[in-house]
Amino acid sequence: MKDKINHLLAEVEAFSAENTEQLEAFRIKFLSKKGIIPSLFADFKSVPQEDRRETGRLINTLKQAVQQKIIFLKDKLDEQSGMQGSTLDLSLPAETPLGTRHPLSIVRNEIIDIFSRIGFSVSEGPEIEDDFHNFTALNFPEEHPARDMQDTFFIEKDPDLALRTHTSSVQVRVMEKSQPPIRTISPGRVFRNEAISARAHCIFHQVEGLYVDENVSFTDLKQTLFYFARELFGKHTKIRFRPSFFPFTEPSAEMDVSCNICGGKGCNICKYTGWVEILGCGMVDPNVLEACHIDNEKYTGFAFGMGIERITMLKYQVNDLRLFFENDLRFLKQFQAAR
Ligand code: PHE
Repeated sequence: MKDKINHLLAEVEAFSAENTEQLEAFRIKFLSKKGIIPSLFADFKSVPQEDRRETGRLINTLKQAVQQKIIFLKDKLDEQSGMQGSTLDLSLPAETPLGTRHPLSIVRNEIIDIFSRIGFSVSEGPEIEDDFHNFTALNFPEEHPARDMQDTFFIEKDPDLALRTHTSSVQVRVMEKSQPPIRTISPGRVFRNEAISARAHCIFHQVEGLYVDENVSFTDLKQTLFYFARELFGKHTKIRFRPSFFPFTEPSAEMDVSCNICGGKGCNICKYTGWVEILGCGMVDPNVLEACHIDNEKYTGFAFGMGIERITMLKYQVNDLRLFFENDLRFLKQFQAAR
């Protein structure tokens, strides 16, 4: 029996495995229930008393040799397959930090949500726009300053193309393609040739809205925007309108909401007036409907447009617009709890 064990020891010493299957076969051969080691322990019972000590020691040596061989070869195979040793458990879930939604996306989604609850659809359009959709169809006169290089980024190779300065261009596209009733909002990125500061950027985001149907009145405009302001800023929010001017609406107005920071009492956000301006709006100019082949005798409409940055600044009390574009994680992580 001792000879047999010594033979086996030599076999174990010499053994090498090229793959895990071979190694597993080796393990089964020696260590499984019906393997060599258990059968040696079984045979051990019939070993004569005087040989027992040595034989026992030999069997244990063999068992240890097999176990060490298995560990050694397993490490070697793991290393070969790029797993760098058995300590690395590739089945563990990766430690992925949870991402956060950008504050502008949070607010954009909220605005979309509020308007979709009253039947507005979402429409999108190109960021590079032609003169017709960005200006002409919207009743901008030829000499309007927005058509100046100083206010608009034109595409050098084609003076008819520019980066859109508002998403009203998308609404022109919607009106061209469909007939009233039209109820749509257009969120998107817009571009204006402005110096970057805490309050202005050459890239920002808008949501513009349009409602065209029979008998749409300024009352509908007011009520819709009142609903919107209360949903976004809270049910105690008040609104007020100030007369304004836009080429594409007549009459036009700017809408203020009661300051959500001080509740209207006056603070540095509202410059102690109790009110903050959040959007421009008005009744769609009949010329715009006509340019888009909509019967302006039969239909009327209202439109409004707001900057998402401005609303986000008010909602989250952010005092520098540039923070939205810097992707500083210390800033972005503060919105983890928001949806
Ligand atoms: N298009 C205007 C802007 O970009 C906003 C606006 C939209 C005003 C619709 C009135 C009506 O400033």
